[in-house]
Parts: sequence; C-alpha cells; structure tokens
Amino acid sequence: MNKITVVGAGNVGATLAQRLAEKELAREVVLVDIIEGVPQGKGLDQWETGPIEGFDTRVTGANDYGPAKDSELFVVTAGIARKPGMSRDDLVKTNADIVKAVSQEIKKASPRAIVVVVSNPLDVMCWVTKQVTGFPRERVIGMAGVLDTARYRTFLSDALEVSVEDIQAMVLGGHGDTMVPLVSYTTVSGIPVTQLLDGKKLDSIVQRTRTGGGEIVNYLKTGSAYYAPSAAAVQMVEAIVRNKHRVLPCSAWLQGEYGLKDVFLGVPCKLGAKGLEEIIEVQLTDAERAALKKSAESVRETMGVVKL
Ligand code: APR
Repeated sequence: MNKITVVGAGNVGATLAQRLAEKELAREVVLVDIIEGVPQGKGLDQWETGPIEGFDTRVTGANDYGPAKDSELFVVTAGIARKPGMSRDDLVKTNADIVKAVSQEIKKASPRAIVVVVSNPLDVMCWVTKQVTGFPRERVIGMAGVLDTARYRTFLSDALEVSVEDIQAMVLGGHGDTMVPLVSYTTVSGIPVTQLLDGKKLDSIVQRTRTGGGEIVNYLKTGSAYYAPSAAAVQMVEAIVRNKHRVLPCSAWLQGEYGLKDVFLGVPCKLGAKGLEEIIEVQLTDAERAALKKSAESVRETMGVVKL
C-alpha cells in the first residue's frame, strides 16, 4: 500500500504505527492526533528506527488530515481509554463524538479508504463510523475478535502447556462482557479442546477471556491494553494489504447473517484487498446462538445512547 493513516497517536495508535512500519505494510504511515507535536514527534522517532529495524516506511505525524489525503486505509484509535472500574460502554459518549469527528475527516480526505476501527466501545464505534462516512460494510471493520481470541489462546496454551501456534479458536460477539468464545470450534491441531480440558477449567478460561481487558486495566490503572490490541489490528491490516483472504473474527455490519440485522458484531470474516470480503456463517450450538443474540442486544442498547 502507498499510505496508511493511524488516527490517535496514543498508546494503541503509536504502537500500531511502529508495527506497521516494521512490517513495511505501506510506503508511508501517517499518525494524526489533536495534541500538538505528539504525532509529529512520535512519527519522527519511529521513522528513525528504520535504519536499525531495516524498513523504508516513512512515518510522519500531523494535527490535520492534509497529509492523510488519499490513504488507502485508516486505523481509528482516537478516543479515551478505560480506567479501573469502567466498562467499555462507559466510554461511549466521549468516544462517539470523537469518532464522529474523525469519520467526517476520513470521508473528506479519502472517500475510498478502508477503515479498521479500534476505539471502544468497539461495535458501537464501528456503527458510528459507518453511518458518518456512509462507506459500505466492506470498508468498515472492527478489531475485537482477533484480540479476544489471542487472549483466549494465550490462556489455553498456558493451561494445556502446548504452543499457542497449535491452538485454533474464535471468539465472536460484542467486544465486552457478553463476548462469545466458541468452545465448540476450539481445537489443538484439530483435536477438540473438550477432549483435553475439563468443563470447569474451560469455563474459567472463557471467563478470564471475557474480562481480559479489565484485568490489564486493573494493573495499569491509568489506561488500557495496547500491545495485544495493536498487534491484533496489524494482523487485520496485513490480511487486507497482502490480500491474504484470511479468516479472522472481526466486527462486521450484519445484514441477516446469524439471524441478526443492522448491528455490528464479531463474526468470522474473510479479509482481503477489498476489506471485508465475506462473512462466514458457521453452525452454532443453541447456547452459542443465544449468547450471540444477547451480545447483539447489549450492543444495540449502547447504540441507543449515541445521537448521530
Ligand atoms: N482526533 C485524533 N486523535 C484524538 C482525538 C481526535 N478527535 N481525540 C482524542 N484523540 C487522541 C488523544 O489525543 C490520544 O493521543 O487519541 C489518543 C488516545 O490515546 P490513549 O489515551 O493512549 O488511548 P489508547 O490506549 O491508545 O486507546 C485508544 O483504543 O483500545 C481502544 O479503548 C481504547 O478507545 C480507546 C482507544
């Protein structure tokens, strides 16, 4: 790609920009933030790691969208992060206004761009982005499932004492307490995880996954996770830039899939050069289907708080 713009040069945005540059996923990475000097300073600092890390991607920063013009892809990380005791939904009012403003700028700067949304509450911020930009669902995709799945796989690998690389899994649903780790599709090199771990242990891992973000907020106290979130967003960007047709759990605008309509929710998505290329519908157990429906209701409830 020629140009990727990361909006928000905070913890998630800056870490993400560095990862994009290290993987040379674009010739230029632009960091945009409202704080004067910060995106410029972080951008320059990152660009200067090029000779050491061996990349030619140029990283720049700006407080306006001039340098972002004609970006093929945007990653939106602008907004406030959680503090202990806060849920992602507590961020909704502040972040909806921020994401609204950012979306208007994206639409002006690059009307054909693909947007990967990271700001929370994720599924609702995806909806704000889609409504404000008017972009089709192929071009507005949310990062949540890849992160939640990475947490789930980490905990499983720890419990099973096997490589994370051999754990295949998917976490669907909203990016919150109602997320739906699909135990029925979790395998270790094809072996159903239910043959390897007892129900009680699996339940505790599922529960730890659901509250995985909060666990980190409680440690950090002044902010929320950013190493794994930025890595997860970069995996999605890489699938798009390299047209890999990867199947990853992402938040997508549902139009009847899984019996749900007009809501963003985490589902298995095929990502490639066009962005969201396909939503894959898998068979779910009754309990998983009910959990997904409950998760959609919770996203809708938070959507109700936002005035567009
Ligand atoms: N335009 C551009 N940047 C903005 C805007 C805006 N309108 N409003 C705020 N920002 C910037 C802030 O100046 C800050 O630098 O967004 C950045 C957010 O950075 P952090 O506070 O470090 O938060 P971070 O941990 O990066 O999380 C950002 O991602 O994972 C989610 O829940 C998290 O919603 C949060 C977002």
